[in-house]
Amino acid sequence: MEAGAGGREQAGDAGVVLTFLSAACRQRAASLLASMTRDEKAAQMILAKDGIVTTSQITSYGIGAVLADGYYKPGHGATSDWAAHIAPLHAAARASRLGIPLLYGLDAVHGMSHATDAIIFPHNIGLGATRDPDLVERVARATAVEIAATGADWTFAPTIAAARDERWGRTYESFSEDPVLVGSLGASAVLGLQGHSLGAERTSILATAKHFAGDGATAYGTSSVGDLDRGDVTLNESDFRALAVAQYVPAIRAGVGSIMVSYSSYRGTAMSVNRPWLTNVLKKELGFEGFLVSDLNAVELLPGTSDTNIEAAINAGLDMLMESDSGLDALSLISDAVAGGRISSARVDDAVTRILRVKCGLGLFEGTERSLDPTVASPAHRLLAKEAVEKSLVVLKNDLGVLPLNAAGGKILLAGSGADSQRRQMGGWTINWDGSDADDATGTTLLSALTSRLGQSVVNAEDPTDPTGADAVILVMSERPYAEYLGDASDLTLSAVAPDDVTALSYYSQYDVPIIAILFSGRPLVITEELPKVSAFIAAFLPGTAADAIVDVLYGVTHPTGKLPMTWPKSMTQLPINLGDPDYVTDPPLFPLGFGLTY
Ligand code: BGC
Repeated sequence: MEAGAGGREQAGDAGVVLTFLSAACRQRAASLLASMTRDEKAAQMILAKDGIVTTSQITSYGIGAVLADGYYKPGHGATSDWAAHIAPLHAAARASRLGIPLLYGLDAVHGMSHATDAIIFPHNIGLGATRDPDLVERVARATAVEIAATGADWTFAPTIAAARDERWGRTYESFSEDPVLVGSLGASAVLGLQGHSLGAERTSILATAKHFAGDGATAYGTSSVGDLDRGDVTLNESDFRALAVAQYVPAIRAGVGSIMVSYSSYRGTAMSVNRPWLTNVLKKELGFEGFLVSDLNAVELLPGTSDTNIEAAINAGLDMLMESDSGLDALSLISDAVAGGRISSARVDDAVTRILRVKCGLGLFEGTERSLDPTVASPAHRLLAKEAVEKSLVVLKNDLGVLPLNAAGGKILLAGSGADSQRRQMGGWTINWDGSDADDATGTTLLSALTSRLGQSVVNAEDPTDPTGADAVILVMSERPYAEYLGDASDLTLSAVAPDDVTALSYYSQYDVPIIAILFSGRPLVITEELPKVSAFIAAFLPGTAADAIVDVLYGVTHPTGKLPMTWPKSMTQLPINLGDPDYVTDPPLFPLGFGLTY
């Protein structure tokens, strides 16, 4: 990815133009840089937290970027509330001495998943089951349109970790255990969010490939927070490159403008201060020309003092610090470190240049002109969500062709913890961080989707109900919602994760009525004991809004095509298990990577 003759923007890949490397953006960054004070440069290098930073601080310091953390919610959290809230922050930045535009970022990780009226698409694990790069790009494009309507211009997505151990609480953020599939779908997500050229569309949203590198590949038990999240990667270098770094290459070729650095460490060195990987590999060897942002308080959380940690992180190659809980402390620490020669001016100039170029490529200097878009939550986006869910469902069992069900049949008894629960259907990072507010999203639960299709024939069995006379029992088993380390788990057996559902299964299996099990979960769970008790089993992952798609697959209106994006273990002692492991054949999993029935 070398600069083209005459400074022309470079083609990173077929059809991708790296607008942030255009001659105009290089020039804009250089001339601004020449007129910036040390403090103004430092102000571009921090990502301040919404709710803590004020509009007057944005104006007086020239703060360059603001984030909404997982719990931030203006007003009622509707798109219009976000838009009304974000616009003044942009205005405050424009009113600063140099008027450098602000980046406003948030975690829109499965649709504009912070807005109560947005379409919530399946989490990445479900998109991985579709194995459909074109679909992933279309989902990301629709997401970008719904983000743009809020006035935000940056999303901390896609996660391009290959989840190698489903005890990890962020497994659902991963497209697959297979880094090649992750690389392909991750690049599609970048193209969808940013457009084929950053800033070419009014609704272009800056994407963030995250978390570089090794999240998903940490060794169990090495984390001081959960058992895996924020842990240590102990792989040798060639495995680390193949499993955790390789997927960044397609994302960079797709023109990703920012990359977030992982909380995890590689062989004992935190990635946030890891110069060999951040600067030597990611920036120099892989040619990443966008900017590197740290994870929330990641530098703050390192052992040591804030000033030495910040110096180490910036000297290692980080360009922007999400040190948001410490307010604007990071700004003065950066500035002081430059004054004291502990961070070189050249390093700071490089960081600020990268940030300014991306802002320019995104078109922020021309004014974003973002406004409420009539396509938010439009029928077209709803249909797209439905298509994504249909293609993400993986049928693991279908004895005697019990599926598809006959629409002209009799009664259906619907039971289980996920039958009528948005939070269980949508999971973490929905409305708020851990998904506990997901009931505020605008969605359709399976109960409402099934009832609107079948009317009176659906019996909602909140308590064990004699199913005699019913065509089938549909038992919707589910994991509670969670995010990050909250989801790290040492026991993924269904009886540990969903004990009430397993009790319900025992109850219904006494009767001579077929049981169709549907599982809402962020990862494969150990279902080996329960599987013989059901006639059919559908892994639905965390599908989001469009439960009507599940009804269509149950009734054969659409045919299931999803294939497992991750190996399905048969016991806890088998974990971690991934295709290519030496004992994959001699001690096979319950279902291999790629498994999925159809009808
Ligand atoms: C997560 C990131 C996220 C950030 C901002 C962190 O806790 O690890 O994935 O982008 O918060 O919400």
